[in-house]
Amino acid sequence: AKITFITSDEETITLEGTSGSVMALAVDNGIPGIDGDCGGVCSCATCHVHVAPEDMEKTGSASEIETDMLELDDNADEYSRLCCQIDITDAIDGVVLKVAK
Ligand code: FES
Repeated sequence: AKITFITSDEETITLEGTSGSVMALAVDNGIPGIDGDCGGVCSCATCHVHVAPEDMEKTGSASEIETDMLELDDNADEYSRLCCQIDITDAIDGVVLKVAK
């Protein structure tokens, strides 16, 4: 699946991944602002992204444990996801994710 990241500098980077989490793909490719400090267990929120509204259907919305983490983040909104919780499958091909500040 192709996944496009928009960094906080408005840089657009499109990556291609076949498996694993979106966070791992971003970290492996050095996407600025995606740190993945907790290793993908939904406990650090350093992988926070805002899904493009029209892509929400593909990624789904945040799960309950994500929402609990995101509540601690002032920049969270209804399009927020922790991208370690998004698995790369064909279903999310073409999504655009804005790296949260
Ligand atoms: Fe820590 Fe996603 S990598 S919450």
